[in-house]
Amino acid sequence: MIRTKILGLGSYVPDRVVKNEEIAFLNDQHVRQETQQSETTDEWIQRRTGITERRYVPNESGLATSDLALQASKRALLDANLEPQDIDCIILGTLSPDLHFPGTAVFLQDKLGIASRGCACFDIRQQCSGFVYGLQMADAFIRTGMYKRILLVGAELHSHSLDFTTRGRDVMILFGDGAGAMVLGPMESDDPKSGVMYTSAHADGSGAMSLYLKIFDIAKLPYLQYDPRNREENQPMYPYMDGKRVFLNAVRGMVMSTNTALEKTGLTWDDINWFVPHQANLRINEKVAEVAKIPPEKILNSIQFYGNTTAATVPLTIDHWRQQGKVKRGDRILSSVFGSGFTWGATIFTL
Ligand code: UT7
Repeated sequence: MIRTKILGLGSYVPDRVVKNEEIAFLNDQHVRQETQQSETTDEWIQRRTGITERRYVPNESGLATSDLALQASKRALLDANLEPQDIDCIILGTLSPDLHFPGTAVFLQDKLGIASRGCACFDIRQQCSGFVYGLQMADAFIRTGMYKRILLVGAELHSHSLDFTTRGRDVMILFGDGAGAMVLGPMESDDPKSGVMYTSAHADGSGAMSLYLKIFDIAKLPYLQYDPRNREENQPMYPYMDGKRVFLNAVRGMVMSTNTALEKTGLTWDDINWFVPHQANLRINEKVAEVAKIPPEKILNSIQFYGNTTAATVPLTIDHWRQQGKVKRGDRILSSVFGSGFTWGATIFTL
């Protein structure tokens, strides 16, 4: 039977490193000021989140989310030994799209130089769960024979939409820019444990207003009702998060989906090489590991270096540790995610 194989993996983060010590001194142009712009400290950020640094696109680089996606895609294609022309479907997860419409996948398609070939382009707007949602779609498409070479990308450019004042510090310190990509294709195998073995995707829309970025309200005329330069009014430009509620639900959703993934596949932690949780807060991942009784030596995190890159965290973390020589081809990975929506899910696959 046809099963889904991971043909290639790649990731990309911009060169600019923003350390915790620096972030409090950045203004909204990302330029370091002499005086502190927001009340936060390296000690607070590390203790509450585990983050020490994150990456931002360089100031005035003109880069968009699709440019980060492009770099990660090129690396995944190289890893798969394929050309952009081989791709017949793009699935892109992001919460920081290039524009409100059209979707970002079409910009990526054009930047890959394959627009004239007309392949299918999908945007997944499931935030931190975007990669697992996208993987479930890709797996279904490949098993049914709909597409043969799918480029699945999670890409985020968060740094341009963060509030660099004390008002926005809870969210601002978490997010970073980056992208991760996989190329997926079919293989003939009767081994149910091969390739993409399991995916699950869930949502609870009653949590939607616990983590959102409004920017506009389409129910109103005019649909933008603030002056972006007026600090008192411009909150809709920035993400809002009920941190504690998101934290609790993240632990619950990730524990539940991790345990269900093992139950449904009949696997135990002895069968899994690595647990790769979404990277939102190291304390969330520590709690998930404690409750789900995950062997600590099997857990891979990268939030220390990149912060939360939402839809990109899973492929970025795997690729980071592959580059360090820890993760190898043939390793079996269990990943669980949770994000705005609320959305959550899990997957088990062999790299
Ligand atoms: O990707 C999926 C979505 N995101 C998440 O899963 C994130 C989930 N939530 C979190 O990670 C945590 O809730 C945060 C890191 C956002 C906040 O950590 P916390 O331990 O829940 O802190 P808190 O919200 O209870 O805030 C404690 C204090 C507050 O001050 P008061 O009211 O006690 O005086 C905050 O104003 O810490 C303050 N605070 C900060 N202080 C210094 C909040 N952000 C900061 C900051 N620096 N950056």
